[in-house]
Amino acid sequence: MKYFTIKENIMESRDVNTLTFEDDIKIKPGQFIMAWAPRINYIPLSFSSVSQIKSITVKIYGEASAYLAGLKPGEKLFYDGIYGNGYDAVPGKKLLIGAGSGIASLIPLIDENTTGIISGKTKTDILFRSKFKKEKLHIVTDDGSMGKKGFVATAMDELDIESFDMIYVCGPEIMMFSVLNYLKGMKVNCQFSLERSMKCGIGLCDSCSINGFQVCRDGPVFSIEKLKSMDEFGRTKLTSSGKRVSV
Ligand code: FES
Repeated sequence: MKYFTIKENIMESRDVNTLTFEDDIKIKPGQFIMAWAPRINYIPLSFSSVSQIKSITVKIYGEASAYLAGLKPGEKLFYDGIYGNGYDAVPGKKLLIGAGSGIASLIPLIDENTTGIISGKTKTDILFRSKFKKEKLHIVTDDGSMGKKGFVATAMDELDIESFDMIYVCGPEIMMFSVLNYLKGMKVNCQFSLERSMKCGIGLCDSCSINGFQVCRDGPVFSIEKLKSMDEFGRTKLTSSGKRVSV
């Protein structure tokens, strides 16, 4: 098993921390590791920076993520990977759409030509806004406590969506499903990063399956064309015990 030695632990919000470390390993934005919380579990985590100083942003939602988010400078983050196919880098105008901590895996894609939409329930869910040029950032919150009151579609309505060369989306599935529906019928290139329960990360357990695809091996990034063919997307998913439930 490999490890990163934590350089810094940055508290982004009450339940999101970013761990930085220095490593020259090559990583494509959107790829992930299976991070090990000893005696608890493995969980998938993606990168919020892939330069020499790399980072992983952890949202606390259970025991394993709480352990990993609490790692201190000098401590080791043990992992398997690097796994998954990552986002395709495309020249030209990009639109990044992220909600909550989902914006983290999109941050390495930002360049001069990038417009961002960040959405969240409330202002404390709006992360990484300083990474975008102010005039190219659109913030929406459910309660209107930051940016415009509304949802991702509220911000999309203000943009010429078909003028973007690539749209990248990451966040809760319900948000991504609404973006998929919004884009239906438009001529756009778009990639979505999916989240599913993952146990092995290497295509063995099938816990991450969606319509015959394995999110760990075939994804986590999928094109809009593939997503349109998945009728489970936005509707059902498997829990870690293998039970199918509504998204
Ligand atoms: S996590 Fe085991 S097959 Fe994908």
